[in-house]
Amino acid sequence: MTAVTFRHHASFNTSSVSKSDSFEGEKEKKYKMIAKDVTIKYGDFVAVKNITMKFPEKSVTALIGPSGCGKTTFLRCLNRMHDMTKGAKVEGKVMIDDIDLYDKSIDPIYHRRKVGMVFQKPNPFPTMSIYDNVTAGLKLNGIKDKKILDEIVEDSLKMAYLWDEVKCDLKKSAIELSGGQQQRLCIARALAIQPEVLLMDEPASALDPIATQKIEETITELKKEYTIIIVTHNMQQAVRVSDYTGFMYLGDLIEFDETKKLFTDPKNELTAKYVQGQFG
Ligand SMILES: Nc1ncnc2c1ncn2[C@@H]1O[C@H](COP(=O)(O)OP(=O)(O)OP(=O)(O)O)[C@@H](O)[C@H]1O
Ligand SMILES: [Mg+2]
Repeated sequence: MTAVTFRHHASFNTSSVSKSDSFEGEKEKKYKMIAKDVTIKYGDFVAVKNITMKFPEKSVTALIGPSGCGKTTFLRCLNRMHDMTKGAKVEGKVMIDDIDLYDKSIDPIYHRRKVGMVFQKPNPFPTMSIYDNVTAGLKLNGIKDKKILDEIVEDSLKMAYLWDEVKCDLKKSAIELSGGQQQRLCIARALAIQPEVLLMDEPASALDPIATQKIEETITELKKEYTIIIVTHNMQQAVRVSDYTGFMYLGDLIEFDETKKLFTDPKNELTAKYVQGQFG
C-alpha cells in the first residue's frame, strides 16, 4: 500500500500545539491537540473527570475502558459535539495548535473543519450517491468547481482505500455498499474537508474481520498525515493500530502511555486487570 496525499493540499497544516510539552516518560514531542483539565457533565452527572491528555501529531491514540466510562463523551468534546447535546456542559480547554476550541470568540465551524469524525455505525447520507456523499461538506463550504470536486473525491476515496472498489460507479447509491465499504466512505467523507485530526468512535465494531482489517490498514496509512484518536473495545485492535493508549475508568483517565508499555508493563493495577481481561 502506498500513502496517498492530497494534490490540492497547498494549505495543509500539520503544525503542532507545542514543541516543548511532554508527558511522563517522554522526551520532547510535538502535540497536535491537548485536552486540559476537561470535565464533562450531563446535568449533575459527571461523566468525564478533569482529564488532561496530549495527542502527539501524526500518531494514533487509542481510548480504551469499560462500557460507560466516558470514552465517547470525551471524544465528542474534541470537536465540540456537545454543543448539540442537551444538558451537556464541558469545562476546561481543548487546544488545537495554539487555539482553544472552546474560546468563545472563535467560530466553532473553524475548528470542526480541522477535526473530522467517524462514528461507530456507518452513517452515509442514504439518498445520495458515493460521489455526492464525499462532496457534500465541500459544497457546503462553497466549493463548486467540478474539476476540484472530482480530484478531491478521487483523493479522499484513495486515502480511505475505497477507490479501487467504487471508481467505476461513483454515481451508485451509498446504501448499496457493504457495511465495511460504507464505513470507508464515511472516512472518505470526513477526509474530504481536509481535517488535521480524525476522531473515530469504534469505527470497526460493526464490521467483519476482513472489513476491520481494511479499516485498520487505512488508519495505519492515514497517520502519516493525520493525528488520529480512536475509541475501541477491541484491545488487539488498540495494540495493532495505536502508538499511545489512554485507559479510562468511571470518567477518570487512569493511565496514558505508549501502547506497548501500557499493555505489557502498566503502572496501575486497574489498567493491568483491564488489559488482562479481568473485567470489561
Ligand atoms: N446524552 C447523555 N445524557 C446523559 N448521560 C449520558 C449521555 N451520554 C452518555 N451519558 C452517560 O455518560 C456516561 C459515559 O457514557 P459514554 O457514552 O461516554 O461511555 P463510553 O465509554 O463511550 O461507553 P461505551 O463503551 O458503551 O460506548 C455513561 O454513564 C452514560 O450513561
Ligand atoms: Mg461509546
